[in-house]
Amino acid sequence: MVVIPTETVYGLACNAMDEDAVRRVFEIKGRPAENPLIVHLSEAEQMEDVAVDIPDLAWKLAARYWPGPLTMVLRRGPEVPKVTTGGLETVAVRVPAHVVAREIIEAAGCPIAAPSANVFMGLSPTNAFDLDPEILVDVDLVVDGGPCEYGLESTVIDLTEETPRILRPGAVSRGEIQSLIGRPLGHMPPEEVRKSPGMYRRHYAPSSPVRLIDRVLQADEVGLTFGAAQSELQVKMPKDARAYGAVLYSALKQLDLRKPKAILVEEPPDGVEWEAVWDRLRKASANLL
Ligand code: TXA
Ligand code: MG
Repeated sequence: MVVIPTETVYGLACNAMDEDAVRRVFEIKGRPAENPLIVHLSEAEQMEDVAVDIPDLAWKLAARYWPGPLTMVLRRGPEVPKVTTGGLETVAVRVPAHVVAREIIEAAGCPIAAPSANVFMGLSPTNAFDLDPEILVDVDLVVDGGPCEYGLESTVIDLTEETPRILRPGAVSRGEIQSLIGRPLGHMPPEEVRKSPGMYRRHYAPSSPVRLIDRVLQADEVGLTFGAAQSELQVKMPKDARAYGAVLYSALKQLDLRKPKAILVEEPPDGVEWEAVWDRLRKASANLL
């Protein structure tokens, strides 16, 4: 059980083919058994070890985005334990770009299951020092690879249906994928949330409540601002979507440690490049019910 760095967030890694190890990952995270894990590979060809009926589009996307922050949902191969895929007949795969992650996967010689290394529903760690104590007590080793380049999780795209669709917006944008494949990607209808069991309404949340505000932070408020920070309880955020995503979790974490009554977040712009940031902010600010 090893915490590894990736270019998106830190992962809690184990042999994806070892049922006992995978069960332990669910236990450590407090994650519901029906929420499947991503299987990390060291190269695209390894897809054939874990998936069947791989569509041409998967190879095309792999050639363009791997190694990198794109996860593809394919039909599960018979060797992959169902515990790993949360009981589903599909399997999510990606080849991470982080050089340390790739070397670890290669050295392990097996596909690696690695959910984000946070407690269920919490903030994903983007730095080794952001790891929760509850995670640290249960792992054998933490490999510190410094701050994660993207800071938001990979984009998850489902390739098992007629129209490919994004199940989780992430580091690779919808627009980029659409222009590569030359047609629009589907959205996930709300009634089908079960298709990606990880799409809980509340997620990626610190323990203090998060509220989105459509105004500027006042001097005595705690939160994330696009203006100048007026106290140490405010964090000045970048105006570029990718740079914002890279520091979002660590900024929320930093403020959360001070246990404020609420963390206020100035709403980011609406552009398509902000889709992943909006997704995480909506989930971080959703009520528990
Ligand atoms: O960037 C990332 O993807 C990070 C790093 C460590 O690679 N991992 C990560 O894993 O975010 P996790 O377990 O926190 O999120 C995996 C997401 C969940 O939303 C899950 O429901 C979805 O991928 N997923 C996994 N397998 C799936 C499947 N077979 N069908 C649909 N969704 C799946
Ligand atoms: Mg996660």
